[in-house]
Amino acid sequence: MSTRPRVSARISAISESATLAVDAKAKAMKAAGRPVIGFGAGEPDFPTPGYIVEAAVQAAREPRFHKYTPAGGLPELKQAIADKTRRDSGYAVEASQVLVTNGGKQAVYEAFATLLDPGDEVLVVAPYWTTYPEAIKLAGGVQVDVVTDESTGYLANVEQLEAARTERTKVLLFVSPSNPTGAVYSREQTEAIGRWAAEHGLWVVTDEIYEHLVYGGAEFTSIATAVPELGDRVVILNGVAKTYAMTGWRVGWLIGPSDVVKAATNLQSHATSNVANVSQAAALAAVSGDLSAVAEMRAAFDRRRQTMVRMLNEIPGVFCPEPKGAFYAYPSVKDLIGKELRGRRPQSSGELAELILEEAEVAVVPGEAFGTPGYFRLSYALGDDDLVEGVSRMAKLLSEAR
Ligand SMILES: Cc1ncc(COP(=O)(O)O)c(C=O)c1O
Repeated sequence: MSTRPRVSARISAISESATLAVDAKAKAMKAAGRPVIGFGAGEPDFPTPGYIVEAAVQAAREPRFHKYTPAGGLPELKQAIADKTRRDSGYAVEASQVLVTNGGKQAVYEAFATLLDPGDEVLVVAPYWTTYPEAIKLAGGVQVDVVTDESTGYLANVEQLEAARTERTKVLLFVSPSNPTGAVYSREQTEAIGRWAAEHGLWVVTDEIYEHLVYGGAEFTSIATAVPELGDRVVILNGVAKTYAMTGWRVGWLIGPSDVVKAATNLQSHATSNVANVSQAAALAAVSGDLSAVAEMRAAFDRRRQTMVRMLNEIPGVFCPEPKGAFYAYPSVKDLIGKELRGRRPQSSGELAELILEEAEVAVVPGEAFGTPGYFRLSYALGDDDLVEGVSRMAKLLSEAR
């Protein structure tokens, strides 16, 4: 019998997505008849706008879409993404600098696979979205955390980044608005960080998937436009999932210099080939249309954001800085760790989240998933009534902590 491991070391090292795991557990409890309220999901609760669905229906009837199309994306979609990038970010790119991917997730994976050699370091601001570490690791890269907390609204500064930089640093990952914290860097902060990266010859991989979800006077700034000194060492990741409520359609993209995009396209040509044509046609309708659908969603998210943050901050032991973008709140629950609650004494935010799920039937994602124990991530992309009911249940339970 072979003593070789059944699963490779590289793939065994990948962790299960904690956010999907929480969601799955909550859904299983729901299916068993328990009235669980889930704050775990990272997706809008709205359906995809009708005109986008209609474009997909039309496309499904077109025989040319029943066949393979270019691995890097439909030419008309690549052009529309280039035009949209100029419209929304003021960043001028050619269609040849766009690669259409199976969701933003594949763009994340391919960006790191294309840029990193084993041992190359990537600066990642923590708390970070759970997919980045796995994509960096799979590419042989080394993640170097730059840890932030609620005292700065989870924003990193140049001094912190410089302290983490070494000879091996190749890439800075810049995410604004952030998942999981909702932090948004101002134009000045973005410029300072971008100039520092340019000065040290770093690449910047910037995830702009929440660009249209900013609130209360906060503004999205594309680091690619704000810092022309970065030259061509910028890779932009984006997608239709969050802006147009299209998480299930699986369309994202990567924008970068031609050599990087060509190499990433070669990778994709052997992995997944073209994204499903019907989904690409839907994405084409989305990015070439106006932004009225996202304006409506944004108004609803903003209302829910304010309600959630106010209610969370009323809970003793919970502190939540105001998220300025995306659709997540990221409160600290550090003061509740180790306290007695319903006969138990949770020793981590993970244990506290489990207790809340069992006792209050409310699902939140613990900060462990995002590299910072002691916090919860709650999505406010759910109906207003459920949101109030869920946070009220949590508040009632947590107020018993002694
Ligand atoms: C920061 C960030 N980037 C990228 C994605 C990828 O989204 P998708 O693969 O659904 O397009 C997500 C989804 O949760 C995200 O939060």
